[in-house]
Amino acid sequence: MIISRIGALGVVLVVWLCWSSLLTGAEDHITDPVEVKVLRAIRKSLIDPNKNLNNWNRGDPCTSNWTGVLCSNTTLDDKYLHVIELQLLNMNLSGTLSPEIGRLSHLKILDFMWNKISGSIPKEIGNLTSLELLLLNGNRLTGLLPEELGNLLNLDRIQVDENHISGSIPKSFANLSKAKHFHMNNNSISGQIPPELSKLPKLVHFLLDNNNLSGFLPPEFSELPSLLILQTFGVTQVWLARMGLDTISFFLLL
Ligand SMILES: *[C@@H]1O[C@H](CO)[C@@H](O)[C@H](O)[C@H]1NC(C)=O
Ligand SMILES: *[C@@H]1O[C@H](CO)[C@@H](O)[C@H](O)[C@H]1NC(C)=O
Ligand SMILES: *[C@@H]1O[C@H](CO)[C@@H](O)[C@H](O)[C@H]1NC(C)=O
Ligand SMILES: *[C@@H]1O[C@H](CO)[C@@H](O)[C@H](O)[C@H]1NC(C)=O
Ligand SMILES: *[C@@H]1O[C@H](CO)[C@@H](O)[C@H](O)[C@H]1NC(C)=O
Ligand SMILES: *[C@@H]1O[C@H](CO)[C@@H](O)[C@H](O)[C@H]1NC(C)=O
Ligand SMILES: *[C@@H]1O[C@H](CO)[C@@H](O)[C@H](O)[C@H]1NC(C)=O
Repeated sequence: MIISRIGALGVVLVVWLCWSSLLTGAEDHITDPVEVKVLRAIRKSLIDPNKNLNNWNRGDPCTSNWTGVLCSNTTLDDKYLHVIELQLLNMNLSGTLSPEIGRLSHLKILDFMWNKISGSIPKEIGNLTSLELLLLNGNRLTGLLPEELGNLLNLDRIQVDENHISGSIPKSFANLSKAKHFHMNNNSISGQIPPELSKLPKLVHFLLDNNNLSGFLPPEFSELPSLLILQTFGVTQVWLARMGLDTISFFLLL
């Protein structure tokens, strides 16, 4: 009698545990509502002739397999899932990038390469302090490189090559101390290369060919610790290759 009572109590307890874990499970697996709004705003400012983003109408971004949206697989302290990657490369997208993008605060990869996106690079992207890869190459972007991008202290790579970007390279980029790759070739970038950039400790590729730069290559660049390739100055390309620890070779290609 006593045993069966304990048994019944056990069953009730097990059922209650399952039920409550189901409940919290459901609660745990929802995208941050701010980020859902942001994704809608991003889609709204894009033109999507191939209808790649049609499934952005259905359900929850992180749990309903929205094209190109990758999320954290566990919830954070705030109990929400967060968008950590936007992979929308080569989808024939045009239109513009919504400044709302700056509110995807856990984003690590922002990849819109090989589309037909126009307008300028939103300065709000400088708010994405977790960002590691900023890949906007092969679009039709105009305007300036926002100096706010210098706030992206976790950035590993910035690729904005093959656009129509003008203006000069912001000095603030000197703060991108984790960045290894700067691909800025084939734009209309003008002015001088800021000598401050020669302090970048991790720089490996610095591509600036086919722009409208003026002045000289700041001599400080020969002191960069890990630079392998520096490619600049239009038709006359200066390549600087650090071959060994002490051997620096210059090649002038006319
Ligand atoms: C998610 O959607 C893509 C196409 O958008 C599809 O290839 C893939 O199989 C889907 N995955 C799941 C788990 O539904
Ligand atoms: C969760 O994501 C991390 C990286 O973000 C990965 O290392 C881990 O294997 C993932 N776990 C599962 C269960 O998918
Ligand atoms: C891209 O979209 C344009 C219309 O905007 C269309 O003419 C073209 O065929 C599309 N290209 C691809 C590869 O889908
Ligand atoms: C995002 O960036 C803009 C412009 O750079 C700034 O005015 C705004 O305060 C930032 N927002 C947040 C939440 O950091
Ligand atoms: C780099 O960051 C520091 C603070 O970390 C700031 O004082 C400085 O103005 C920044 N430099 C540039 C060129 O933006
Ligand atoms: C960059 O511009 C040059 C000169 O206009 C052109 O020859 C080259 O194909 C362009 N590079 C790419 C990858 O489009
Ligand atoms: C390059 O700069 C010069 C003046 O410095 C300007 O006249 C020319 O239009 C610019 N060309 C491009 C492609 O931006």
